[in-house]
Amino acid sequence: MAPGLVGEEKAKKGKLPTDTWWHTIVGTNSREKTGYPTQKPMGVLERIIRASSNPGDLVMDFFAGSGTTGAACLKLGRRFILVDNNHQAIEVMQKRFANEAIEWTKDE
Ligand SMILES: C[S@@+](CC[C@H](N)C(=O)[O-])C[C@H]1O[C@@H](n2cnc3c(N)ncnc32)[C@H](O)[C@@H]1O
Repeated sequence: MAPGLVGEEKAKKGKLPTDTWWHTIVGTNSREKTGYPTQKPMGVLERIIRASSNPGDLVMDFFAGSGTTGAACLKLGRRFILVDNNHQAIEVMQKRFANEAIEWTKDE
């Protein structure tokens, strides 16, 4: 975040990971916005999925909300299972993945 403070040698080594990430929120007028109140930005989910899985792996999100994990998996070539107990989340995900070959199941 302050490139002027880092010498060439240190810059080559890369940034040490920290426990705080800076990322913009999903903007009110963003094309990414689904309308789901707790939606997380794609960039954050992409980063988590890239760091913790390989292409072709199966990723599960038991609190899927608007399905950002699934959208990131589609982009990154991962398979995914999404779970949510809120019907509004399911409706948002159904819209979001309307053009994808997704298998939907419902626990009675
Ligand atoms: C913070 S939101 C997830 C947001 C998601 N990462 C996104 O980008 O939209 C958490 C979700 O967990 C769901 N949830 C909470 N308790 C649950 C439970 N016991 N079983 C399944 N889903 C649950 C809520 O309905 C909510 O959609």
